[in-house]
Amino acid sequence: MSIAFFDSGIGGLTVLQEAMRRLPGENFLYFADTLHVPYGTKTLNEVKRYVQQSAELIMKEQVDALVVACNTGTSAAIEELRNTYSHIPVIGMEPAVKPAVRRSHEAGRRVLVFATSLTLSLTKYHDLVDRVDDHKVVDSMPLPELVQYCEQLMFDPQEIEAYFRGKLAGINLDSYGTIVLGCTHFPYYKNILHHLLPPHIELIDGTGGTVDRLCDMLDLPKVPRAAESSVNTSSQTSVPPITFMCSDGNPAYLDKMAQALKYLQSLHA
Ligand code: DGL
Repeated sequence: MSIAFFDSGIGGLTVLQEAMRRLPGENFLYFADTLHVPYGTKTLNEVKRYVQQSAELIMKEQVDALVVACNTGTSAAIEELRNTYSHIPVIGMEPAVKPAVRRSHEAGRRVLVFATSLTLSLTKYHDLVDRVDDHKVVDSMPLPELVQYCEQLMFDPQEIEAYFRGKLAGINLDSYGTIVLGCTHFPYYKNILHHLLPPHIELIDGTGGTVDRLCDMLDLPKVPRAAESSVNTSSQTSVPPITFMCSDGNPAYLDKMAQALKYLQSLHA
């Protein structure tokens, strides 16, 4: 089967990587909207348009499923995509607030959601929080710079730790039990965050759940998920074929995607 993954940039590779690990027999296409990255600082209407234009290009490739591996793109345009491409499964992502609230509540602590400014401003996100946050424990923080750092392949722990320290200064981390990584660019920094945060804080992202849903919708057998808040120690046994595409067709960005995927794999080796 041919499964397409789509993000504004290299963020969705965090989801592709998990799909490759669990579905080594499938073919993958990865599309980055390099003409418009980042999405998180744009308007809703702009992102709706960019997502639709990207999907049109992806659909020329005859795919069997589309994973919108982008919380911002999903929040902005998933309904429109599902209506337009009703002949295939279109799987979206939203910040994993529900499991985070459940786990944090059990521990008597709060939840902090990291996402893009656009995701956090949209009704879809507010409706989600209203639905699941009975005890009013959810706070949120936009991290637009982190998307930019990731796009520049800036993974130096010292620089990134300094950035997080600045962002988290004045926040009482003891009161939080869970941090939700509500943007697919953020799991690149999981190890750095684990190192920086108090050990009781669990990191949750939507990667595993998204691949579960993909397997369900395509009726594919489910290989168990990587452990959610710890580093995945399983190694990849085979590398399935991947076609990389980007909206500006820049060959340097295609190299960047391959490099970023390698970096993710090195984190999990
Ligand atoms: N990786 C995307 C997300 O999950 C988009 C980040 C951006 O382009 O600002 O939200």
